[in-house]
Amino acid sequence: MWDRLYASAFEKVINRLGNIGRVLLAYNTNIDAIKYLNSRDLEERVNRAGKEEVLRYSEELPEKIMSVQQLLGSILWSVKLGKAAELFVESCSTRFYMKLWGWDELRMGGQVGIMANLLGGVYGIPVIAHVPQISRLQAGLFKDGPIYVPKIENGQLRLVHPKEFNADEESCIHFIYEFPRGFTVFDFEAPRENRFIGSADDYNPNLFIRTEFRKNFDEIAKNVDLAIVSGLQALTKDNYREPFETIRGHLEVLNDRNVPAHLEFAFTPDETVRKAILDFLGNFWSVGLNEVELASIMEVIGEKRLAEKLLANDPVDPIAVTEAMLKLAERAGVKRIHFHTYGYYLALTDYKGEFVRDALLFAALAAAAKAKLGDVHSMDDIVKAMKVPVNERAKPVEEALAKEYGMEKGLAEVDDYQLAFVPTKIVEKPKSTVGIGDTISSSAFVGEFALKMG
Ligand code: AMP
Ligand code: GLC
Repeated sequence: MWDRLYASAFEKVINRLGNIGRVLLAYNTNIDAIKYLNSRDLEERVNRAGKEEVLRYSEELPEKIMSVQQLLGSILWSVKLGKAAELFVESCSTRFYMKLWGWDELRMGGQVGIMANLLGGVYGIPVIAHVPQISRLQAGLFKDGPIYVPKIENGQLRLVHPKEFNADEESCIHFIYEFPRGFTVFDFEAPRENRFIGSADDYNPNLFIRTEFRKNFDEIAKNVDLAIVSGLQALTKDNYREPFETIRGHLEVLNDRNVPAHLEFAFTPDETVRKAILDFLGNFWSVGLNEVELASIMEVIGEKRLAEKLLANDPVDPIAVTEAMLKLAERAGVKRIHFHTYGYYLALTDYKGEFVRDALLFAALAAAAKAKLGDVHSMDDIVKAMKVPVNERAKPVEEALAKEYGMEKGLAEVDDYQLAFVPTKIVEKPKSTVGIGDTISSSAFVGEFALKMG
């Protein structure tokens, strides 16, 4: 059944992507310098930096990175737990160390950058992107296609491709240390593939918003159909107020124009910021998150037991996820919650229709292509992802949903909501893991509107 649903959803979505006008993407764009870790090299570096001190940092992540020992310790923390983490690198000498260590690949990074290349460069949907700093290196990572950044010339706002922006601003580089499942270093073995990110970037972590966006937002937002917001995750209790005020203003403009906005949640370590985002969520139409992010929200609303349940099983217990999504929907007042985890996705919506599920299926194909290749180059890559088998481990998840909510063909009614489920396609040996979540959320969001508008 699922193979059939996958094929028909794909046909439907690609034929209708042209229905979408402009999508606004704000705020975080950077350069990802990807290093595929090598055990011997990493062990030698740890020994040279002082193994005892490094191991201490592998027990608990620091708040930010102030030394090479903290950097290496944080990488070991990620490997040991198979968990993703991202920290701001404050120390210049550590930034220099990372630069010398080098990278295997330079790739577009940040939710906005990744989504701009996918929506604009592959799906052909016109996008307006917020790029905090446009260096030549950053601009060169944008694919050709209808991707625009605002530029003020002679007092007039113009939309130009980032390559035509011709400014020589700073490069915001995030060093991504990727490791495969089973990667071993000393006595640690990675339970699953993942990455540690060290951001040598003074703009995105502070949610720097460009003058063009602060002064001309009304005009920028004039002709957009949809918006996707991201990049709030690195803020702290000390610096979140100002950007939040600007974003609140932007959302007012979007809501006045009835432009549905999606928030890509991303893991937000600072509890004050997480609570502030939660209080603010009602301004969005939709939100996208994974199990760790959903659990972190349950924690701040006092649902500790549910938070633990979300992290207890693999695959994640779908009944606990549904309960948590219902709580979030009631509390925040968003119309759509899109949950993704390794092996399946769920969407809770206050409206009904097969198009919600079909958009999730389309997103799972895009995710499989991204996992396999590291970057989606063309629609053809997504077509080829059809060959990746549907995840067998999602069967018990589907059975549990059928038993609890009478789910059929991935659709059920739960309270006054619709719950849509899809088992995903899992790539056995992914090229890398960074950016798959962004691929999933943006594809499902635009896919849904493409189907609805068609
Ligand atoms: P995030 O945790 O937000 O970065 O998103 C990662 C998501 O990517 C997971 O929730 C999975 O749904 C998906 N994913 C991770 N690894 C693979 C893989 N090997 N094949 C297909 N999808 C994957
Ligand atoms: C975060 C990171 C960025 C990465 C992105 C992928 O925004 O800062 O480096 O490309 O996540 O989702």
